[in-house]
Amino acid sequence: MKINDISYRGVWLDADGWSVRIIDQTRLPWSVDIPRLVDCADVARAITTMQVRGAPLIGAVAAYGLALALRADASDAAMQRDAALLAATRPTAINLAWAIGRMLAVLRDLPASARADAAYAEAGRIADEDVAQNAAIGDHGLPLIEAIAARRGKVRILTHCNAGWLATVDWGTALAPIYRAHDRGIELHVWVDETRPRNQGAALTAFELAGHGVPHAVVADNAGGHLMQHGEVDLVIVGTDRVTRRGDVANKIGTYLKALAAHDNGVPFWVALPSTTIDWQVDDGISEIPIEQRAAEEVTHVSGLADDGVVRSVRVVPPGSPAANPAFDVTPARLVSGLITERGRCAASAAGLLGLFPERG
Ligand code: MRU
Repeated sequence: MKINDISYRGVWLDADGWSVRIIDQTRLPWSVDIPRLVDCADVARAITTMQVRGAPLIGAVAAYGLALALRADASDAAMQRDAALLAATRPTAINLAWAIGRMLAVLRDLPASARADAAYAEAGRIADEDVAQNAAIGDHGLPLIEAIAARRGKVRILTHCNAGWLATVDWGTALAPIYRAHDRGIELHVWVDETRPRNQGAALTAFELAGHGVPHAVVADNAGGHLMQHGEVDLVIVGTDRVTRRGDVANKIGTYLKALAAHDNGVPFWVALPSTTIDWQVDDGISEIPIEQRAAEEVTHVSGLADDGVVRSVRVVPPGSPAANPAFDVTPARLVSGLITERGRCAASAAGLLGLFPERG
């Protein structure tokens, strides 16, 4: 996808052929900074600080992080240490563990001298596959939007957090069908949840949609229920960080409340994901998915562009009040209308998922 007419992916190799480039998402939408990551520690820091974020993207970036690590030291001990370091950067999105696991499976039995080259090649495949999977999610999600458009013309879609191209290597998950529909000429209006505390909706989804010319409005996180009650939302589409075998969905904090409101108001609630986001080992998302707890400062402070043109962080909570910051929640499968994957759509259930992925049975 493009920023200012320049095509970008979420991660790519620098012209030097070995260092790794990302878009620093902590600086968007105010500036487009492209840091150069030169070692495993750089990559771990970029993921932890959320310079890169979004489940599919952190998987692909971590894969490149392992390639950088092996460039420095490809011994068994170093590979295991650096893989563990990268895997520990964020706990909820399963794509991270999936990508590291896939890399290790390829690299483990290779001689140390062959590992770095093989790691770059595998990381490149992971990135390319993510692009193809997300493009296919766009194709499979499009008919949901087309059906509503055929019924009522303009389609009003609510989304939470950022599950767009910035959260993946390209296209996005929840936003992929939206981009497809917009490109087909379907009239859309996207309600963008601001997504406190880090404002991925206000800062990133709004930036993406504006860049692609998709009509949208940012709403406070608490507005979704009201909009649904008043018939202003035809469809909810969100991304996810981990889907369990039975279809429970972990996603950015606040997703569950939107699912409850959608259920109460008869609004379809769909979740878009590449299969790399499915955790086939886990059934009960509420008890089994680790929920990342992030710094209280993300709640006590808000950052934005001040009137003098400087990006500043300001405190919005009295100094004496502590804050808690669970970063994800789990929406039970019963509240999910269906899943949109690269292989098609299915019910949020074990039977639904196994219908599309029979090799996991
Ligand atoms: O904490 P973040 O910004 O990494 O959380 C991202 C989300 O919750 C996304 O919805 C999810 O990763 C899906 S990305 C295609």
